[in-house]
Amino acid sequence: MSVYPEKIAEKLRSPRPGPVSENAICGRAASFVCGCFAEACIELGADGQVVECIGFATNGCGFMTASCGVLGSRVEGRDLADLNGLSDAELAARIEDELGEFPPERRQCATVAIEALKAAFANLRKARASEFVGDSPLVCTCFGVAEDDLLAAIQRTQAGEFRDLAEATRAGRGCGACRMLIDELIDTTKMQG
Ligand code: FES
Repeated sequence: MSVYPEKIAEKLRSPRPGPVSENAICGRAASFVCGCFAEACIELGADGQVVECIGFATNGCGFMTASCGVLGSRVEGRDLADLNGLSDAELAARIEDELGEFPPERRQCATVAIEALKAAFANLRKARASEFVGDSPLVCTCFGVAEDDLLAAIQRTQAGEFRDLAEATRAGRGCGACRMLIDELIDTTKMQG
């Protein structure tokens, strides 16, 4: 008999494979409460638009391991356009939908898994942005949207909110790692306007 609730125990019976190939980009997060970590490694397909595979490694408890499993299923095989910005709230809700409500002291285990996933996408964004050659910096690597494209869209559509700009350009609708930069750009434009 497992020490974990049945839904968690069931998830642990089919563990997600660890880090994938050497081309994968990884991100890591750790808990200040228990000291455990989770690492997510993602690899996109040749077209750079589909999450071909994702692996997790963790030394955490069953709650953390099972959370990694849920997140892997959420993302693997999906088109970046289907990620919808990977909001923390949506990911946390998905984990609890699938695994049941966590005891309050275990919620941080799910948070660490989410932070690892987001860190992997943030590192992917940085890697792709640093390779980009263009007249202005690349902001959204998921959809190849550069700063000039965003500024032009703000002017053209009078986009004053993130969702307006995301609607007009698709920027920020994938992994969400560029969301903060887009918000900053909108704020800066408002201040200058
Ligand atoms: S970098 Fe992924 S949504 Fe923009």
